[in-house]
Amino acid sequence: MSNIFLIGFMGTGKSTIAETLKRKYDMQIVDMDAEIEKEQKMVISDIFATKGEEYFRDLETQLIKDLQKKDNVVVSCGGGAVLRDENVTEMRKSGKVVLLNATPETILQRVKNSHNRPLLEGNKNVDFIRELMSKREDKYNAAAEITVSVDNRDVDEIADEVYRKVFK
Ligand code: S3P
Repeated sequence: MSNIFLIGFMGTGKSTIAETLKRKYDMQIVDMDAEIEKEQKMVISDIFATKGEEYFRDLETQLIKDLQKKDNVVVSCGGGAVLRDENVTEMRKSGKVVLLNATPETILQRVKNSHNRPLLEGNKNVDFIRELMSKREDKYNAAAEITVSVDNRDVDEIADEVYRKVFK
């Protein structure tokens, strides 16, 4: 029960906070997107383009199941990993699910110069982000056992709060 699953919308800083938890608290990390890319030998946008989103979602489910075997790991989840209830059930079996929350404005600042998120390509504006976020809101909130806000805060502060709330 000692893993941490960082969930939340694209650009909330899940990977960065996982790196910070590794540096400060000596935890191991698994970055779901990076793991899938390594295993498929393809970047996420190519997986979406050639195999489709459902195929990618199946890879996410399989990876989350495989993570059951790990311990003391911070998993930075893909932003859509909680869309399947089955995935959340699996996460809870081996760890705490922590939601990172940010406003659409913060998200836009963080994602505007990157091109590795197929769902945001051509949609990098606050209205689109707000809309997709509100469609997913119930899933994020239902999955979360702990919620941490990331707006206008530095990574050390956020990572400390995550750690404290998980292991208190
Ligand atoms: C997705 C989020 C991405 C990646 C894929 C789909 C989503 O991960 O898994 O592009 O559906 O929200 P990040 O949240 O790490 O950007």
